[in-house]
Amino acid sequence: MKILGIESSCDETAAAVVEDGRNVLSSAVYTQIQKHRPYGGVVPEIASRCHTEAIVDVVKEALDKADAKLCDIDAVAVTCAPGLIGALLVGVNFAKGLSLAANIPLVPVNHTRGHIAANYITNKELEPPFLCLVVSGGHTDLIYVEEYTKFKVLGCTRDDAAGETFDKAARAMGIGYPGGVELDKIAENGNAATYPLPKPEVQGHPLDFSFSGLKTAVVNTIHNAEQKGDKINVPDMAAALRSAVVENLIDHIEKGCIETGCKKIAIAGGVSANLLLRRKLKDKFQNDYKLYIPDIGLCGDNGAMIAAQGYYEFINGNTADMSLNASANGNVEEIIK
Ligand code: KG4
Ligand code: ZN
Repeated sequence: MKILGIESSCDETAAAVVEDGRNVLSSAVYTQIQKHRPYGGVVPEIASRCHTEAIVDVVKEALDKADAKLCDIDAVAVTCAPGLIGALLVGVNFAKGLSLAANIPLVPVNHTRGHIAANYITNKELEPPFLCLVVSGGHTDLIYVEEYTKFKVLGCTRDDAAGETFDKAARAMGIGYPGGVELDKIAENGNAATYPLPKPEVQGHPLDFSFSGLKTAVVNTIHNAEQKGDKINVPDMAAALRSAVVENLIDHIEKGCIETGCKKIAIAGGVSANLLLRRKLKDKFQNDYKLYIPDIGLCGDNGAMIAAQGYYEFINGNTADMSLNASANGNVEEIIK
C-alpha cells in the first residue's frame, strides 16, 4: 500500500511516498531556513506563504521520484496538529484537494505520532510496545507507545521544550540560526566543566521536564560576564548546556524504563539528531536494552514519517472526511477526526 505523506506544520514543506509504512519510495523536503534566518526564528506568516508557494512542486517531486502518479497512491496522509495554524492549513487543504480529486482516503496524522514513526523506517523490525522520547522544537515528551495508534504520555515539559532551549540559548550566545544544530557542532570543541549548570527537576513529577531554569542560567552567565566587560567562552557554554540537557533526557528515559518495565527505547524529533544524545544513549543503554535511533535525515520534519504513521492510522480505520480542520494544539493520545 502506497501512502503519500504531506507535512507543513512549521518551516519545512515536505512530501514523501512510503510503502506499507516502512519503505520510503521518495522524499522531498523544502526548508525555509533561509527565509527565517534574518529574523532569528520562524515567522509564522512567512512560513504559511512559503508553504503555499512550495507545496505543489514538493508534492510533484515526491510523486515523480517514486515514479508514481496520483492514481497509484492508496491514501493521502497529512499533518493536521499540532503546529503553526496557518502553516498546517496549507498542507491540510492541499491534502483535502488531492483526496477529493483522486477519490482516495484522507488520513489525518498527529505530528508527534509522525516523529515516532520515523523509527519504523530506520528500524524495520521495531514494533510496539516501546518507550519513545520525543524531543523537538515544540515538544519534550516521554511517551509509551502501546500500539501503533495507542499512546500514553508519561511525562512532558512544564515550560520550554529541549529544542527551544537550545535555540534560545544559542541566540543569546550569538550562535547563528538555526541554533540547535549549530550549538551541537560548536559544543563538540567545548569543555562542559567550565560552566556548572543546575540540574533541572520537577518536584513530585519525576517524569516531567523543565528547561527554562537552564536557559535562564545561561543568559545570566552571559550578562554577568558582559557587565564585567568579559565574554563567555562560547564552545564551553555550548558544551555545558548540551551536556546538562542530554543528561536530563537520559535520566528521564531511565526512569521511564523503570516505571514501565520496558526494554525497548526509541528517540524522535529534531533534537534526536543531537550528536551527544546519540552517543550517550548508546553508551548507557546499548547493552541491556534494544535501542532504536532514527537516521539523522529522518529526525527533523519530513513527509516520510507522516506517510509511515499514516499507513498505521489508515489500517486502523482512522480516516477523515472533507470537514477535517487543522489545530495548533494536538494531544498525541487522541485520535483526530
Ligand atoms: O522536529 P523538528 O524539526 O521541528 C519541530 O517539530 O519542532 O525540531 C526542530 C528542533 C529545533 O529546535 C532545532 O534546534 C532542534 O530540533 N535540533 C537540534 C539539532 N538539530 C535540530 N537540537 C540539538 N542538536 C541538534 N543536532
Ligand atoms: Zn517536528
